[in-house]
Amino acid sequence: MSVGETRPHESAALHVTGRALYTDDVAIRAPQVLHAHPVCAPHAHAMITRLDPKPAYDVPGVVRVLTADDVPGVNDSGTKHDEPLFPTEVMFHGQAVAWVLGESLEAARIGAAAVEVDYEPMPSIVTVVEAIEAGSFQGARPRLERGDVEAGLAGAAHVFEGEIDFAGQEHFYLETHASLATVDDDGRVHLLASTQHPTETQEIVAHVLGLASHEVTVECVRMGGGFGGKEMQPHGYAAVAALGARLTGRPVRARLNRQQDMTMSGKRHGFHARWKVGFDDEGRLQALDATLTSDGGWSLDLSEPVMSRALCHVDNAYWIPNVRVDGRVARTHKTSQTAFRGFGGPQGMLVIEDILGRCAPLLGIDPTELRRRNFYVEGQTTPYGQPVRHAERLGRAWDQVLDTSDFAARCEDIARANAQSPHRKRGLAITPVKFGISFNFTSFNQAGALVHVYKDGSVLINHGGTEMGQGLHTKMLQVAATALGLPIERVRLASTRTDKVPNTSATAASSGADLNGAAVKDACEQILARLAPVRERLVPTATWDEVVRAAYLDRVQLWAAGFYKTEGLSWDQVAMRGEPFKYFAYGVAAAEVSVDGFTGAYQVERVDIVHDVGDSLSPLVDTGQIEGGFVQGVGWLTLEDLRWDLSDGPSRGRLATQAASTYKLPSLSEMPADLRVTLLDRATEDGVVYGSKAVGEPPLMLAFSVREALRDAVAAFHPPGTVVDLASPATPEAVFWAIRATGGRPG
Ligand code: MTE
Ligand code: MOS
Repeated sequence: MSVGETRPHESAALHVTGRALYTDDVAIRAPQVLHAHPVCAPHAHAMITRLDPKPAYDVPGVVRVLTADDVPGVNDSGTKHDEPLFPTEVMFHGQAVAWVLGESLEAARIGAAAVEVDYEPMPSIVTVVEAIEAGSFQGARPRLERGDVEAGLAGAAHVFEGEIDFAGQEHFYLETHASLATVDDDGRVHLLASTQHPTETQEIVAHVLGLASHEVTVECVRMGGGFGGKEMQPHGYAAVAALGARLTGRPVRARLNRQQDMTMSGKRHGFHARWKVGFDDEGRLQALDATLTSDGGWSLDLSEPVMSRALCHVDNAYWIPNVRVDGRVARTHKTSQTAFRGFGGPQGMLVIEDILGRCAPLLGIDPTELRRRNFYVEGQTTPYGQPVRHAERLGRAWDQVLDTSDFAARCEDIARANAQSPHRKRGLAITPVKFGISFNFTSFNQAGALVHVYKDGSVLINHGGTEMGQGLHTKMLQVAATALGLPIERVRLASTRTDKVPNTSATAASSGADLNGAAVKDACEQILARLAPVRERLVPTATWDEVVRAAYLDRVQLWAAGFYKTEGLSWDQVAMRGEPFKYFAYGVAAAEVSVDGFTGAYQVERVDIVHDVGDSLSPLVDTGQIEGGFVQGVGWLTLEDLRWDLSDGPSRGRLATQAASTYKLPSLSEMPADLRVTLLDRATEDGVVYGSKAVGEPPLMLAFSVREALRDAVAAFHPPGTVVDLASPATPEAVFWAIRATGGRPG
């Protein structure tokens, strides 16, 4: 049995020895490779009045300047036709307006600086609040509604309202965007790309070049992280490389350096939310009326589905009988904000967790009790009408965390210690996660696989999912080995290619293992079914290799294409109703922090997590996903502070935090001193491959426990019952100002 075994990541040894090859490692070994460098606009919003590439050709080593005139197909790099690859109107500071190909990257860079561009600057909208004031929106404006919000609020014993504006997040995958394009004798294109969505990269490249999909192959060996940032954003860079390769006949490498990646590629959406909430006397949620506005940046990209998921997660783990939530996407002159681990879910959940954290003192109810009291119970449905199956797991995980973290005793201990310690306070909080698994858009919930058994009995598998460090390939090897009853060493995995498995969905929505695992299993089972009669003719002790050999001689097909689609899903994206998710993933975290009153600096002292992964396919991989997701969430909520220039000067709209020196990422020093992760037991999930559950995104939202623990610690600096308004990210600076705030309303 291989599924369920504790195994290292299949490339762990390659990763830690530096031997693992990423796209650009291959690119710099390609003979005759040309290097692409962007010409970036120095305005947040401007018209291009003149673009002259000629001076670039005087730079030694410059081979070709790519402009809109070179595009044989459609000059657009998105799926919404609102993203010109070579724009005439600059929509954000740093946007590429042309690309230069050089014999060296240095030649391309100097050539890019020599391209002459005249701009006519125009007024720009940089913040979401400015966009709201200017009425600058894009795309659909969905409304999620259930029950009667007015009646719910009117009948509520307590009604509160508020507003929050919270930040997005830079993906900061270790490997920046990268593509390598080559052309064959016939002009067909092969792309090695760091992409979570090879099929869509293929489609966009094909439409930019005016080719059919069968003339473009996209291959992804592995990514050094994607986190959603490579779901839709790699396409344009891949198209630039492919265009260059078609025009010059030489391999072209397009790889962003860190500063380019940060200034040019999209990030997690920051949101603004305005809300009104009603509770009964016992603190039970009665009604929620909210408007969520996301900062979409200059184009739609994935902003609409991100907003759908935000609306579908505004309930988090709580039953709210009357709900009305409006969603809208602001258009701002910034990078086009995109998918990021959780895909809007975290933003929706932040709203309700912030509401509960702020309202608890107003209701005079302890936040732990307030959250627990509002949990879904079996039989209740979400605001979009999906039954909350296995709601009891929420309570079970919650009680387990309370118990194993010694929560009650530590609360008392902390209260005692805080009373003696005027300048350093500790805080403790516990928060739940409920996260829907499947793509909201039903059609994406399909996958394919190709399994080859060779004559010597060795097995090679291909599937439509991509590896970005999350361990999908490790799980797929385990699934194939288990399905075929072989030791895992007999199975190898080939890189993801659109000419092997076509029409794939993005590896996203945490569904990679659910979808591709089921497709791999299907292919293996087809092969086993064909081998069964062969085996029957042989002696009972016949080995796998003997059966395979006999089957080959019998002319039995030894390879199979597998397919899977998730059954039972429905989603009406206009009405915002249906059952879009196969199941929910649950988790609970308790976090303790300590905060210094003079500086706002804090430490995460201890974190206890119980997380539901069903029957884990690969416990070590899953534990790594839980730890990594959690820490990435802590980064989003407490450290990572994206700042744009908001002045009226010439650099308005410029991203001020363009490097790790100014953008604070979580590192070893921010890790909780004590981090305990437990997988929820008795959690088999029916109808999913080997009873497992998705794990990629849900743990990110366990980090709300840290934000709420900070709120608890800040409250300890104030009189009892003070409402603490906490900015997000709750950086040390923000915590300092929350400690200093005098505006807290006593309960
Ligand atoms: N883990 C690592 N190490 N690197 C990543 O880029 N991406 C996350 C998550 N875990 C990511 C990761 C995101 S956003 C998603 S949607 C899932 O992995 C995608 O993979 P899966 O569907 O196989 O879980
Ligand atoms: Mo993940 S945000 O769905 O790529």
